[in-house]
Amino acid sequence: MSKTNVVQPKYSLKILLTENIHSVAKEKLVVEGYQVDLLTHAPSEDEYLKLLPQYDVLGIRSKSEITKNILEKNSHLLAIGAFCIGTNQIDLDAAKNVGVPVFNAPHSNTRSVAELVIAEMISLSRQLGDRNMMAHLGEWEKSAVGSKEVRGKTLGIVGYGHIGSQVSILSEALGMKVIFYDVLKKLPLGNATSKTKLEDLLAEADFVTLHVPETPTTQNLISKNELNKMKRGSFLINASRGTVVVIEDLVTALKENHLAGCAIDVFPTEPASNKEKFVSPLQKIKNVILTPHIGGSTEEAQYSIGLEVAESFRKFLQTGTTAWAVNFPNVDLAHKENVVRIMNIHKNEPGVLGEINGHISKAGANIQAQYLSTDSKIGYLVVDLELQKSGVTAETLIDLIQKSSRSIKTRQIF
Ligand code: NAI
Repeated sequence: MSKTNVVQPKYSLKILLTENIHSVAKEKLVVEGYQVDLLTHAPSEDEYLKLLPQYDVLGIRSKSEITKNILEKNSHLLAIGAFCIGTNQIDLDAAKNVGVPVFNAPHSNTRSVAELVIAEMISLSRQLGDRNMMAHLGEWEKSAVGSKEVRGKTLGIVGYGHIGSQVSILSEALGMKVIFYDVLKKLPLGNATSKTKLEDLLAEADFVTLHVPETPTTQNLISKNELNKMKRGSFLINASRGTVVVIEDLVTALKENHLAGCAIDVFPTEPASNKEKFVSPLQKIKNVILTPHIGGSTEEAQYSIGLEVAESFRKFLQTGTTAWAVNFPNVDLAHKENVVRIMNIHKNEPGVLGEINGHISKAGANIQAQYLSTDSKIGYLVVDLELQKSGVTAETLIDLIQKSSRSIKTRQIF
């Protein structure tokens, strides 16, 4: 593993943003004094190996593969940003081992998903998908049968996190009664009330919308048993993850008219690209809305993602904050005047902190504050120092600290 010590004023830092990341990210980072280059495509591994030695920070979206090989040959990188939700395209362990925190933007599209769910509730209630399709085919079916307002109906939200709670607020504004179920104790917003059992929610709701993460406990959360507990004539919406609902059981519930319709945005297997064909047993069933995982896909969400990850870069580069990094011990720090701030990433082994503090005290520097966060593999240390009286420079101290056999990366934060 190559080791890195860096003393760089922020104006010399170069940032590469690939895959057509929203221009707001560049605008924000340029204002902060960084040099930013944009690429519209996802470079191959070879291209990244040629490009990255010239850059300090990398921003990608979902199509770049950031491999162990790329990371080990570019251990000088200070941070990587995934300007999207997922981070599977990056070898997170390899990034951690070379001292590179990875940031993403998990909640920038919360509102976009919530709005889609509202649109889907009204669409299902008025059979808009089917009416629209028929009108396009030249059929005129003007009828009020089975068409209802959502006002006064009960919405059951499963998973009352970022998206679920937004849906809750918007639905109440439409005059709906909101109930929710979550495995954690959550503060009800507005007039929403919580249910301690999923089955109680299923039995009471006219609409059930799922907003849980993909975990072993949410896999097949809604199968035959749960669908049977839903009210006859109710609707199911899933814009969370495809593995949460057993599609075959849902097909049966729809064909038997137990459910009056559903809106599904996520599927157990999804086409890898827009060029692949989409096939689902839910196709061609009455009052079924199918969308290609677009819950979070809006221009506003792309803009928010650009701002959110650029802000994570700014905070990390200028204060050392790693809060929200997906592969790194988290510290959340404010900027401080009149101190020299040094960050050190090291292997989490006994005695490292003592060794670093030994160098600092031998150099005669005064520690004003120290922040340490660790996980099983690495420690992330930020130290605020008063160097004036000691005569030692930040460069010398960084060199000394970096020489420790356990240090991975040491740099001054400006
Ligand atoms: P979040 O983490 O803020 O909220 C999830 C909530 O579900 C938490 O309150 C958690 O306690 C709860 N939960 C976990 N396991 C549960 C269980 N077994 N039963 C009931 N509640 C449970 O997540 P967020 O941001 O609200 O996202 C929710 C889902 O939406 C995720 O699966 C995410 O991947 C998906 N999503 C889908 C998008 C799309 O394009 N369709 C876009 C963005 C997110």
